[in-house]
Amino acid sequence: MTNTLGTAYRDIHNASIHEREKFWLDAAAGVDWYTPPTAALDDSEAPFYRWFPGGTLNTSYNALDRHVLAGRGEQPALIHDSAVKGKSVTYTYSKLLREVEKFAGVLSRHGVAKGDRVVIYMPMIPEAVIAMLATARLGAIHSVVFGGFAANELAVRLDDARPTVVVTASGGREPSRVVEYLPLVAKALELTTHHVDTVIVKKRPQVPGTAADYDGLTNTRWFDWKNETKTSEPHAAVPVAASDPLYILYTSGTTGTPKGVVRDNGGHAVALTWSMENIYTMKPGEVMFTGSDVGWVVGHSYIVYAPLLAGATTVLYEGKPVGTPDAGAFWRIVRDHNVKVLFTAPTALRAIRKEDPQAHELAKYRIPSLEHVFLAGERLDPDTYHWATETLGVPVVDHWWQTETGWPICASPRGIEVLPLKAGSPSFPVPGYDLEILDERAEPLPHLAEGNIVIRLPLPPGTLTTLWGNDDRYRAGYLNEFPGYYLTGDSGYIDSDGYVFVMGRTDDVINVAGHRFSTGAMEAVIAGHPAVAESAVVGVNDDIKGQVPAAYVVLKKGVTISDEELSRDLVARMREQIGAVAAFHQVTVIPALPKTRSGKVLRKTMRQIIAGEHYVVPATIDDVEVLAALEETVRRGVVAR
Ligand code: COA
Ligand code: AMP
Repeated sequence: MTNTLGTAYRDIHNASIHEREKFWLDAAAGVDWYTPPTAALDDSEAPFYRWFPGGTLNTSYNALDRHVLAGRGEQPALIHDSAVKGKSVTYTYSKLLREVEKFAGVLSRHGVAKGDRVVIYMPMIPEAVIAMLATARLGAIHSVVFGGFAANELAVRLDDARPTVVVTASGGREPSRVVEYLPLVAKALELTTHHVDTVIVKKRPQVPGTAADYDGLTNTRWFDWKNETKTSEPHAAVPVAASDPLYILYTSGTTGTPKGVVRDNGGHAVALTWSMENIYTMKPGEVMFTGSDVGWVVGHSYIVYAPLLAGATTVLYEGKPVGTPDAGAFWRIVRDHNVKVLFTAPTALRAIRKEDPQAHELAKYRIPSLEHVFLAGERLDPDTYHWATETLGVPVVDHWWQTETGWPICASPRGIEVLPLKAGSPSFPVPGYDLEILDERAEPLPHLAEGNIVIRLPLPPGTLTTLWGNDDRYRAGYLNEFPGYYLTGDSGYIDSDGYVFVMGRTDDVINVAGHRFSTGAMEAVIAGHPAVAESAVVGVNDDIKGQVPAAYVVLKKGVTISDEELSRDLVARMREQIGAVAAFHQVTVIPALPKTRSGKVLRKTMRQIIAGEHYVVPATIDDVEVLAALEETVRRGVVAR
């Protein structure tokens, strides 16, 4: 970066690292505290850090009550735009507060208190947001499970989070089908060892199934949302310590068991509030539309918490970027609701571009309110970046983050300074993040050299404090490899202007349409098939979704099964055990998996062969013939689909 360019950004970034206490205590003034914190960072138990010791607050109060008390009660807080129902409904801050108070009363009546967990398994309806804020209001801890996950994935999360109550809805509407949630919840409850006392069901008229259909069948009680809220007493916000957990959000790791990322109340409220103006340029009263799902971290942070903490208006969209009804859906929303910032995943723009490359749909809408598009969730390929920039005529800002961090690690902080954007780069480390690129021996790498992207500890407020119930896994997965640093699991480099380029994961996590999946978990599903000896799942390039999983399967000796039957079985198993959203369709039978002499599958080499890239035969290979056989299979395009 030249000396003049980026001065404001650089000064603020420096202050966030070198005058950390002052920087974050100043930022903490952006939220309302019952007891203000006495310090910013508590590092007495490093590498476990706690932010804002001594501070007490309530996140739900900060997201709702304080705006109403400040006279903004009649301002829209949440607009539910349902392409599925073809209408939108607006909740003002006062109305949303009333609903949240009432539902907090319901949860409390069902025994939920500070520190208890509530699992929320819901489609994109206002009740999902209400349930989250009501849980936070009680000082309890929510864990939202993405509605596209199958019963098995829900069960794993229930057993780990051990909730008192599950909140769900009769179902969701996907363009191709109605998704009934209640049979999935019932099945998940059968699979768990943890007993859930209470399920609360929001009945949707379009989807069959009611609480009454399930109540009495087992010793879990099922209740109807509407009946319960009719008779409930509004519940006031409960003060919690800044370091008390607000939520657990599960994400995929290298192994099959998901990791429960724990977010605190205080650091989260401060960081997200700070980010709204400094990164996204958003001010109170302005409208943000984040096209994601409340089940993902982007949805937690920029559909629900950040816009409401900042007193802005958020759009909760139940629909897809294409097909509901067409590739103009996002532009219609921007126009209808006067959206200033649109935030989505590159895959959504790729899907829109594929349907409407000449942007005829866009031409139908005048959208002068749109000032920025922010993209995250996966690498933004330069082609999509250029298309979106030229088509929309507004800055298209790539920014990089993870479920673990909860807010961006790298971004162009448009509220601080307008800096040039570079295709393929999410720009610069966000204030609070002290980023380095290290080689395998923990040596810093020079400009342009690709290596492990790490963040010097402490991570800033708002990032994970640990993994739920598993400090050891947190340490082992993120902190042990490079002592003093957090391992992001992404590789990349920094160019001579200071722009960071994030190239991809260094572990066995793949990114499908901006969603993260563990190849290990998929291999575990495949291993359950009686014909399968072993398999390797790798992420292969996909024009729309970035990556999709492809399974390379070795059959047990003597087994005969047709490719078609095997493929059908495995696709069905994956949909049933992980969910349709894994987009698993490709199965290839091969004679053997390429491995090292110590038995490790050579995934990187497999990926390179499948992508038709140049590869170097690893020195540690066990049997070089296996690679030749794989190459031949790929060349012949043999896929059992
Ligand atoms: N509940 C139940 N099922 C769901 C679901 C949900 N919430 N979300 C997706 N699914 C199902 C879909 O119905 C589909 O099932 P099918 O195979 O029976 O048709 C499958 O999961 C795959 O869905 P999806 O990923 O939506 O793929 P698609 O091909 O239907 O649509 C895109 C492609 C690009 C339009 C879509 O992936 C998309 O909108 N991506 C945006 C991603 C995003 O918001 N990421 C968040 C990170 S910021
Ligand atoms: P998730 O935790 O599901 O949000 O996935 C996080 C992962 O998505 C990161 O570790 C990256 O691999 C990838 N990712 C997210 N945003 C970006 C981005 N802007 N550029 C490149 N990769 C990204």
